[in-house]
Amino acid sequence: MAMIIDGREISLLVKNEIKEKVEELKKRGKEITLAVIQVGDNPASTVYVRNKKKACEYTGIRSLSYELPEETSEEELLALVEQLNERPDVNGILVQLPLPPLMDEDAVIRAISPLKDVDGFHPQNVGNLCIGQPGFVSCTPLGVIELLKRSGVSIAGKKCVVLGRSNIVGKPMALLLLRENATVTVAHSKTENLKEVTQEADILVVAVGRPGMVTGEYVKEGAVVIDVGINRDENNKLCGDVDFDTVEPICGAITPVPGGVGPMTIAMLLHNCLESVEREKYEVS
Ligand code: GUN
Repeated sequence: MAMIIDGREISLLVKNEIKEKVEELKKRGKEITLAVIQVGDNPASTVYVRNKKKACEYTGIRSLSYELPEETSEEELLALVEQLNERPDVNGILVQLPLPPLMDEDAVIRAISPLKDVDGFHPQNVGNLCIGQPGFVSCTPLGVIELLKRSGVSIAGKKCVVLGRSNIVGKPMALLLLRENATVTVAHSKTENLKEVTQEADILVVAVGRPGMVTGEYVKEGAVVIDVGINRDENNKLCGDVDFDTVEPICGAITPVPGGVGPMTIAMLLHNCLESVEREKYEVS
């Protein structure tokens, strides 16, 4: 029987630790504020944004909500980001993706001050991660590392395979595992003999966005399997990229969907908000 890695339970531990730190900061007169921007009304984004705001509320982080209509121009969005960059009372800025098709996502991400980029998407923060310098790190891969550590899974020296090479998950995931001294392979849709590659993994992180793609045949006995996928199956039920029913009997530990990586992403966003303040080296005057 595989160990089920409970992301809800672990994220609650993380959130409670953050809540305490936020309270301490408040006692010293410092409030943390996250600005959350959503453009349009993509239903999935609306759910994510609502959950992020709820988590802020739970931990005592103030959230400012900007719900802009679908027709908002890129210039208007950039002007808002610029205004938030300048506001000393705003510590973090999050622009929910995807943006409407006519907007240049890269330009919007680049417009966010790297010091307030709690999503860790700005090229400066990505570059810092790449060369081992401090900076914000993308929340989902950061959450995966936290899940592994808090579940007692050792990473150093292990063979890790990351399936997927997106900028938000796959690439930063590989860099974070490398930072933890793993031996890392990044596999993707063009990888030859994919099953042979994934079967080598002691830790397999799957982030491909294809429901149930990774079946038992892809997995080595006793491996730790982390499922980053959030998809809807033919019955509109949430499901991951891993076929839980065929993988669970083989692997040593696995994250469920829902209730695995998802809750950790939000917990690490709050962690990054807290870090944004700690980076200011706030001192009581
Ligand atoms: N859309 C899907 N995931 C994310 C995320 O982590 N951050 C933002 N800003 N948008 C997303």
